Amino acid sequence: MIKNYILIGPPGSGKGTQAKKLTEQFHLLHLSTGSIFRQLAQHDNNLKELITSGNLVPDTQVVDLISKYIRNNIITVKKTGILLDGFPRTLTQAKNMSKIFVMEGITINVVYIMTLNYDESINRLLGRRVCTMCGANYKQSNNIIKCTYCNNILSKRSDDQVNIIKNRFQIYEKQTKPLIEYYDNQSNIDVIYINGSKDENDVFNQITKHL
Ligand code: AP5
Repeated sequence: MIKNYILIGPPGSGKGTQAKKLTEQFHLLHLSTGSIFRQLAQHDNNLKELITSGNLVPDTQVVDLISKYIRNNIITVKKTGILLDGFPRTLTQAKNMSKIFVMEGITINVVYIMTLNYDESINRLLGRRVCTMCGANYKQSNNIIKCTYCNNILSKRSDDQVNIIKNRFQIYEKQTKPLIEYYDNQSNIDVIYINGSKDENDVFNQITKHL
């Protein structure tokens, strides 16, 4: 049976890292709203300012994007299943997504809640380096300078600064955490907690047990 998944977690909890591994191994369609908005922000100063300050993009803009994305990719979604990374992040987004999915005849099966404390989030994100071409993540401590997928020079993400990470973390606590109760109350959806502070392989194994 084709299944659809959501990854929810604070900044740095490993959503992007795990999504990349999962979609490579299980051929799921990967939708990262963060990656899409970062691409769009290259030609949109308002969006750039929102992301660089760590604030959320307005719900209407996010829902509009998702709605178009799902409609344009519905055949693939039904064939492979989709992994949502970083969406939804507010109750409004979750409720609107549910309407879109019902209309398109698709359902969410599993919601993963990745946990990570604030100090570890700061540590990881200050040491993160990214490829701006393909979005791959690296650790500064590994001393890799160029992306192993596309040979692009790695850089720091503009929102990976202490005060901005703090803002992103607080927004997660206030606006995204209420989604846990929202999904917990839906009997047809499995809500699975993942200890994001373990090493990458351990986290991957925790997730794949429930795929
Ligand atoms: P987004 O890109 O989604 O950022 P985020 O949620 O803050 O998450 P991150 O990408 O920082 O962390 P991650 O959990 O993916 O961790 P990663 O795997 O990279 O969104 C960015 C912005 O876009 C938002 O702030 C907002 O403005 C906007 N936006 C996006 N979606 C939106 C929405 N739905 N609504 C409104 N606005 C939206 O790992 C981090 C580092 O840790 C890496 O260096 C990695 O190598 C390392 N690492 C990963 N796993 C491990 C491990 N197990 N052990 C040790 N190190 C690890």
